[in-house]
Amino acid sequence: MKILAIETSCDDTGIAILEAGKGGDFKVLSNIVASQIKIHQKYGGVFPAMAKREHQKNLVPTLISALKESNLLKLKEKTKTKKPEIFAFAKNPTFLKILEREPDLKKQLIPFLKKYEKPEMDLISVTNGPGLEPCLWVGVNFAKALSYVWDIPVIPVNHIESHILVNLLQNKEIKFPAVALIASGGHTQLILVNKIGKYKILGETRDDAAGECFDKCAKILGLSYPGGPEIAKLAELGRFPRPNQIQLPRPMINTKDYDFSFSGLKTAVLYLHQKQSKETKKEKQYIRDMSAEIQQAIIDVLIKKTLRAVKDFDAKTLILGGGVSANHELKTQFLIKIHQDLPETEFLFPQIDHSTDNGLMTAITGYFHRNKKIATSDVAMLKADANLRVSK
Ligand code: KG4
Ligand code: ZN
Repeated sequence: MKILAIETSCDDTGIAILEAGKGGDFKVLSNIVASQIKIHQKYGGVFPAMAKREHQKNLVPTLISALKESNLLKLKEKTKTKKPEIFAFAKNPTFLKILEREPDLKKQLIPFLKKYEKPEMDLISVTNGPGLEPCLWVGVNFAKALSYVWDIPVIPVNHIESHILVNLLQNKEIKFPAVALIASGGHTQLILVNKIGKYKILGETRDDAAGECFDKCAKILGLSYPGGPEIAKLAELGRFPRPNQIQLPRPMINTKDYDFSFSGLKTAVLYLHQKQSKETKKEKQYIRDMSAEIQQAIIDVLIKKTLRAVKDFDAKTLILGGGVSANHELKTQFLIKIHQDLPETEFLFPQIDHSTDNGLMTAITGYFHRNKKIATSDVAMLKADANLRVSK
């Protein structure tokens, strides 16, 4: 079966096409991400209304690229009839209602649907939460419109679950129970995974997410957005022991729960930075030292609490996911610790371009939940939910 996946939960427009064989083997036909980083860099962060507008502009061109790459883009045959039946959808009230709030998307989608054939596709998988509400809605409405015109069922998927299940692209199976640490720009959650589709949130951040902390600390240091990769790069040259009294707290590292808190860390960075002299602030080496300390503070907390959860729940597997799992140092330190303390535990982490948001993660999650698909006739009821959770 072929799955077309749409991911617009934050600032990346992701479209992927995945082919799943009978034996559960996957073939990635395309996985295209249109990044909005350049636009958000100017403002130092993501503005939902702006991100929504960009998704509207990017979705159709990204879909065309993905179909082309998958060899599934076919022009409609020219017809001599003036008003052919096949163009009726463009005036259909149901179709127009779906796109009522997406004018920029509609402008491109109608000509696209008139020009190209329905591709050979069995399912449309779309992220319907959690994420930025206006962004989620663009993706959901895009999926609904395509479903309506092409008559393909839709499966709505949870973005956090997608960060977990993307690991099944490189690994045939997960040994359960597993503990997943999902750390991204919007979330930091420790999740007990009893099987695919059965989750329990053990703990989560009480304020900022780990990625958000990277981003906010980077901003304080005058680095660009997104801060995670910037800090990671500079941290490589940070010194230890750190000079200039660069020492940061490890919030909640010893609390008995599985929750996190990163906003105090950001505030500590702000105060520490303000205390430095004008000259020091301009020094490259100071920024590197600060970056290394920020990164290590976040890593220390993430590793300590995650490994405690792995032990407490006798997890056979530890799964990493979310944008922060792109961090090389985090993965290395996890590997060392697991090797030392929990050598029986399997450690799964996504390849770097599957750590950050992409369509493929949405496709694979859709595949595992394909039995819950929504028929085109019922697709109108599909909604985005900014606060969607993997467990109640
Ligand atoms: O999963 P993601 O792409 O989007 C959300 O669902 O939020 O995560 C983006 C976050 C950003 O906060 C970014 O700074 C962080 O992931 N990130 C990193 C790295 N690459 C991306 N954080 C630390 N180290 C990295 N190498
Ligand atoms: Zn994400």
